Amino acid sequence: MDSFLIRGGTRLKGKIEISGSKNSALPILAACLLANGKTTLKGVPRLSDIDSMAKLIGELGCHVFRHEPGGAPQAGADGQPPMPALNGPLDIEVTDEKQCEARYDIVKTMRASICVLGPLLAKRGRAVVSIPGGCAIGDRPVDLHVRGLQKLGAEFRTENGNIIGEVRGRLKGCRMYLGGAQGPTVLGTINVMCAAALADGETVLVGAACEPEVVDCAELLIKMGANIKGHGTPEIRIEGVDQLVGAEHRIIPDRIECGTFIIAAAITNGELELKNCNLDHLIAVVDRLDEVGVKIERQNGTIFVSSSRRLNPVEMTTQPFPGFPTDLQAQLMALLCLGDGMSVVTERIFPDRFLHVGELNRMGARVRKEGPTAIIQGVKEMQGASVMASDLRASAALVLAGMVARGTTRIDRVYHIDRGYEKIEQKLAAVGADIQRVNEK
Ligand code: EPZ
Repeated sequence: MDSFLIRGGTRLKGKIEISGSKNSALPILAACLLANGKTTLKGVPRLSDIDSMAKLIGELGCHVFRHEPGGAPQAGADGQPPMPALNGPLDIEVTDEKQCEARYDIVKTMRASICVLGPLLAKRGRAVVSIPGGCAIGDRPVDLHVRGLQKLGAEFRTENGNIIGEVRGRLKGCRMYLGGAQGPTVLGTINVMCAAALADGETVLVGAACEPEVVDCAELLIKMGANIKGHGTPEIRIEGVDQLVGAEHRIIPDRIECGTFIIAAAITNGELELKNCNLDHLIAVVDRLDEVGVKIERQNGTIFVSSSRRLNPVEMTTQPFPGFPTDLQAQLMALLCLGDGMSVVTERIFPDRFLHVGELNRMGARVRKEGPTAIIQGVKEMQGASVMASDLRASAALVLAGMVARGTTRIDRVYHIDRGYEKIEQKLAAVGADIQRVNEK
């Protein structure tokens, strides 16, 4: 198992290219099951979760082919190692529709596997998907996915840990409410939208998620021939079509990776130029960081980040888009640990998503959790320590803290980070971070 060794105290300076969005690419790969003919996706990041999804749709009869990277590695900042070359596009084509089962072996490693449920039911009339189990960030049920697909006419039963769905004839469009106790569901909206694209008649999803990843998937489906309107709003209208055909599409930039690097610049008191960003996807993040004292300027698809030494404390609550994303809560908390006063962070999407609190405290932070809220008393300095990566975003928060802590931080189990941050140590090293991947057997 790999670990990161980070020596804190260096200011980041230089350019970083933001990768394509993991959370957009994952359901989009599953959506490719709906199309006849080849789909070409650009900007798909190289991540272990993407490999798992590619393996899953491969088992479901897709031919998946990654082209060679485009262009040479890009030069790093003065005296720093080069940045990785851009990824080659991914071709996906369904060549066999017999297999309809998503095995536990894959589903247990990646919950986004549930995204094959809607496409399989709509296109093949049958789906067997292992029920995703518990997760480090809390209970993550899939009841809303199932309920939405049921409303389209699919019938479900559970057997031996599997959800078995079947459709007699064709799914039938209807008007439905898709929200749950914690608000809208991102992957649930995408799952039902994908299925409705091939259903008979009109489907109206009320209480739909508005996240940019939902919009990105809808845009691909439209290129494939789907008739979708209202994506990006809480009411999506889908007029079903008889078939979808392969298309070409570029995945949107990863807003969570971008937000993480903005915070990296802020926490190290550095200056970063981030390329391939869409700041409209980060409007609530910019709002909070502005209050903290971080300067963020945009010029077309590039943003420039710098920060003053004094970090103001803030209050923040995670919310569905366009609110502050839960996937940046841990990273913001790492920054607020060094704030000049007391900050309050409330988690409304996954109320138990606080595994990073204990690890940050081991590094000298003063964070106290009360229910879904964390109270952060800013400290002058954090110290390097041995810490454990627990989930993807919590691990990113530890990398951020490690870069500013006094001394060396060792982060074990970085496979969590590899699930969602493409070449993070190379990107950070290219702008001056002292970070190294080690593998001690
Ligand atoms: C997506 O998960 C993301 N994953 C998550 O990112 C992200 O944290 C989350 O959206 C919220 O933005 C991917 O895109 C692969 P939800 P998703 O359904 O769609 C409850 C990361 O770190 N709910 O929008 O699975 C749920 O428990 C990951 O990259 C139900 O009750 O999340 C939560 O409280 C982690 N029943 C809320 O809804 C359901 O059937 C929102 O979850 C589904 C969800």
